[in-house]
Amino acid sequence: MDRKEEVNEAFDIPVAERIYLVETNTKLKKILFLSLPVLLLLFSIIGLRFSRNAKLSSQGNINIQNANNHDHSILGHLPYNEISKDKLVVIEPDIEVHIDMSEDLLKMKEDARNDGIFLIFLSGYRSINLQKDIFYSLKSFRNQVAAERARVSAPPGYSEHSTGFAIDIGDANKRETDFEVDFENTDAFKWLIKNAAKYHFKLSFNQNNKNVDYEPWHWRYEGSIEALKVFEASNRKFNAGKNLLN
Ligand code: DAL
Ligand code: ZN
Repeated sequence: MDRKEEVNEAFDIPVAERIYLVETNTKLKKILFLSLPVLLLLFSIIGLRFSRNAKLSSQGNINIQNANNHDHSILGHLPYNEISKDKLVVIEPDIEVHIDMSEDLLKMKEDARNDGIFLIFLSGYRSINLQKDIFYSLKSFRNQVAAERARVSAPPGYSEHSTGFAIDIGDANKRETDFEVDFENTDAFKWLIKNAAKYHFKLSFNQNNKNVDYEPWHWRYEGSIEALKVFEASNRKFNAGKNLLN
């Protein structure tokens, strides 16, 4: 091989390689450019699927929560709306109740008195705000966790008292039993057990209640359609499995 050939050979190879590289780059760019819309479409589809799956899975979690809490109760208490002021009547100083139950309640008190039993009303309608104070202030004061507090007091928005259809009753001759389980040993309670249903009153929290303590003093009225509607969910929940025709 002479010197000229040597130079050409040395010169030719790098030039051929450069041309090949430039061509390759251009082809790659073309492929990339052409496939860009396809890639974008692909990423969009994957993104959409991912967000739909995330949504479905979060809906699934909500549904599972609802399935576990189908009656919407909190710590054993069902939700209740606050009754409007125009449906409340003052029956005694500091005692307001739903107008639907006022007549039966006062009649019950009067008939009890005629039987020598002196009922005393301890608490009637309570606003959701008052229930909030009772629940949170006392919970904090007594250093109780919510579940403990809820055994004796409903969370705000979950008390029968806010409907105007609940009344706490004591024995005027046994005031030391006010809001105490010992109230069940009074003549007043014995009279109520025998007679309250005649006036459409029912004990709300009996000994069988799982989350809420027994409250022999707390009665609710079920003597009007409105009252029955209000307590429909509760009756359904606690009557499940019982023979209602008895
Ligand atoms: N003491 C009952 C549960 C209430 O607070 O409504
Ligand atoms: Zn009560």
